[in-house]
Amino acid sequence: MEEIILILDFGGQYNQLIARRIRELNVYSMIKPYNISLEEIKKINPKGIIFTGGPNSIYEDNSLMCDKEIFNLNIPILGICYGMQLMAHILGGKVKKANTREYGEIDVKIDNQSILFSSLKGKNICLMSHTDYVEKLPQGFTKIASTKNCPIAAFENIEKKFFGVQFHPEVNQTEHGLIILDNFVKKVCKCKKTWKMKTFTQNKIMELKNKIGNKKVLCALSGGVDSSVAASLLSKAIGSNLTCIFVDHGLLRKGESEEVERVFGNRKDVNFVRVNAKTRFLTKLKDVTEPEKKRKIIGEEFIRVFEEEANKIGRVDYLVQGTIYPDVIESGLFSSAVIKSHHNVGGLPKNIKFKEIIEPLRNLFKDEVRKVGLELGLNKDLVYRQPFPGPGLAIRIIGDITEEKLNILQDADYILREEIKKHKLDCDINQYFAVLTNIRSVGVMGDARTYDYMLAIRAVKTSDFMTANFSHIPYEVLETISKRIVNEVNNVNRVVYDITNKPPATIEWE
Ligand code: XMP
Repeated sequence: MEEIILILDFGGQYNQLIARRIRELNVYSMIKPYNISLEEIKKINPKGIIFTGGPNSIYEDNSLMCDKEIFNLNIPILGICYGMQLMAHILGGKVKKANTREYGEIDVKIDNQSILFSSLKGKNICLMSHTDYVEKLPQGFTKIASTKNCPIAAFENIEKKFFGVQFHPEVNQTEHGLIILDNFVKKVCKCKKTWKMKTFTQNKIMELKNKIGNKKVLCALSGGVDSSVAASLLSKAIGSNLTCIFVDHGLLRKGESEEVERVFGNRKDVNFVRVNAKTRFLTKLKDVTEPEKKRKIIGEEFIRVFEEEANKIGRVDYLVQGTIYPDVIESGLFSSAVIKSHHNVGGLPKNIKFKEIIEPLRNLFKDEVRKVGLELGLNKDLVYRQPFPGPGLAIRIIGDITEEKLNILQDADYILREEIKKHKLDCDINQYFAVLTNIRSVGVMGDARTYDYMLAIRAVKTSDFMTANFSHIPYEVLETISKRIVNEVNNVNRVVYDITNKPPATIEWE
């Protein structure tokens, strides 16, 4: 059985990142709500537990608490930020509110005799983000780090294998944070680090083969990385019992549906069906402006189209989707707030007519999916393609969606992609696209007044798509893009550049 590090979610913004970092260390991690039952924890049988940070104060009435019996399970625990304070509070220490918030990259003095900090130097820069701090250690604990304003920045109870850090080892801003997490999983929890994508791929193919047998499966193929990898896994497992359905909802980028057909339509091992459903989707979306409603409609319509196609094929038991772990988490299945309903999770209708939905990548992060793609022999261009959301351009047209707006956005986005590629910026930017705002403004073209749309450009640098920084595209390139769009695309007279990071913004506008 795979060894597991269990991460209890107390609502902190870096929770997924902690899980990803543990996976990077070749240990499987899963995120569960903070109030998971003791029985469930025992069933999971983790090698170690991590308490995440969170926005609460431990001494507030409604502060988030885990089952106190967790501390009697004889499992190593690492508390991060709020998680550390929670541990201190439950085990008899004291947590206090500081006069000022400590935020940013702070010098932390550490005791590198501690197993948690082994092989680190005595001083490290760490990301701190807290107001509360541990004032008094619980019994049996020793202090192992401090900062100028935070006398106990980390502690340990070596006998019980409990550790707490006030800073965030999971973020890049913390120097050697990964070594700290590695010390925890390897030296404290004694994990053997067996989580490898090669083994995952082989095991998954076997598992799918055994589960599905001779039954028929439909795969929702969008041409993006996730669904392509899911389709390839399935095709390896069950061969021609797989039919891939590509729903062209008309909300794809310019030239994209032809591209999907070119890549998958010619493969001998894949039954490929393209469904032209543009009119159908646009009719359903007519006059809809609310982002969540758009997502739900698209999710539902996807399923309906699949059901219809499945009926044509005969008995189909399973539907495969390329859902990945961040989709699951960001759709609010845990305690973190619902940010957006990703179309393939939150948007699913209740009365699905398939026996079951199979999501072979449901527990993987994007970089893990890419590795599986390479293991399966998929083309590098496809594996490293920038992500494209399932609801497509519907969530990049702010306000209601019309065919005219779709054409404007497709043409503008095409120019943007051409220029980014031409200036060889595509390897430096992880996602870039155009957004058609529903603002119109006054301009002048020739001698005439115009009153046309404002188009926005979004380009971000990110490794995990959970946090992102806007890309610093050179002004000259932005100028070329802007000039080309305004000159070549009808009904756009203004181009703006989105200079917001995530958080506080998200990558997509809706
Ligand atoms: P946000 O906008 O949440 O996006 O910062 C993070 C990443 O997820 C993509 N995204 C989606 N992908 N279905 C998907 O398959 C969706 O509904 C969806 N919404 C956002 C987005 O393009 C970015 O890469």
